[in-house]
Amino acid sequence: MLFFCAVTVFFTVGIFIAVAVLAVKYRRRADDEIPVATHTGMLLEVVWTVIPFGITMIMFGWGASLYFKESRPPDNAMKMYVVGKQWMWKIEHPEGQREINELHIPVGRPIVLTMTSEDVIHSFFIPDFRTKQDVVPGRYSMIWFTPTKVGKYHIFCAEYCGTRHSQMTGWVYVMDPEKYQEWLNGGAPMGSMAEKGGKLFDDLACANCHKPDGSGRCPSLVGLYKRKVQLADGRVITADEAYIRESILQPNAKVVAGFQPLMPTFQGLINEEGVVQLLEYIKSLSAAPGTPPATVNVPTPSINYNPAPEGTAAPAPPKSAPKR
Ligand code: CUA
Repeated sequence: MLFFCAVTVFFTVGIFIAVAVLAVKYRRRADDEIPVATHTGMLLEVVWTVIPFGITMIMFGWGASLYFKESRPPDNAMKMYVVGKQWMWKIEHPEGQREINELHIPVGRPIVLTMTSEDVIHSFFIPDFRTKQDVVPGRYSMIWFTPTKVGKYHIFCAEYCGTRHSQMTGWVYVMDPEKYQEWLNGGAPMGSMAEKGGKLFDDLACANCHKPDGSGRCPSLVGLYKRKVQLADGRVITADEAYIRESILQPNAKVVAGFQPLMPTFQGLINEEGVVQLLEYIKSLSAAPGTPPATVNVPTPSINYNPAPEGTAAPAPPKSAPKR
């Protein structure tokens, strides 16, 4: 910003001085004076085009790198889920704690929120953290921040979402790490998100087809998260949150190469909170040493379904796997 201001001030002052000096120097001295025709200097044109171009490219490169840095959460960030609905914020910690209109977090740790909505567009806004992000049905949006001061801060919904939009508010509690741990341990034991997702996985009989050893009618989900997946239509995509969510709710949108579109939709059978629990469960399914990779029954060997070089059996566990 200082660089931006310095450049702006420099050129503004320069231009105004030039205007004043030239206005005096070339003022009309007689009523019938006719100015001499002058022609453009090529050198001058090139210089005053190339220099500003270079300066704006510096601003662009610098700004873009800051933007990318700012939009990528640090690897050690704590991941939590937020589901917005008319008119409340439902929050779930990876350890399984659930809150409504409250978010308890430890001070000094980067926090990533993965957010979606059950109905209309909301917007998660913590004015004190200078952070705001739309929460949109049908997709995941993300914000991250590092709370630096213990205290209690407002949460607002910043997108008009119906009658009680103005009451869709809450509080962030930033706590000392020990206090946070106490708070985490204080709730009733309810199992981590991944455990709840695992229970849903069983209840919905997903394991009948998604067998962990890859022998089922559908692909094994072991080590799936963040891996490249070859699709039946030839595309290769990364198995991120959005893809996994879509594959639960609209299984035929992206069918894995070598598999039939057999899976029924779970739209309506499972709410957004269930989907994020399943997500955490699938993320937690990193292959144990010795487990064959989930690619075993991809029929064409040339397919780059698993980016790991041949011979390396188990993909590395995802960094974000919940610590238990
Ligand atoms: Cu939710 Cu406004």
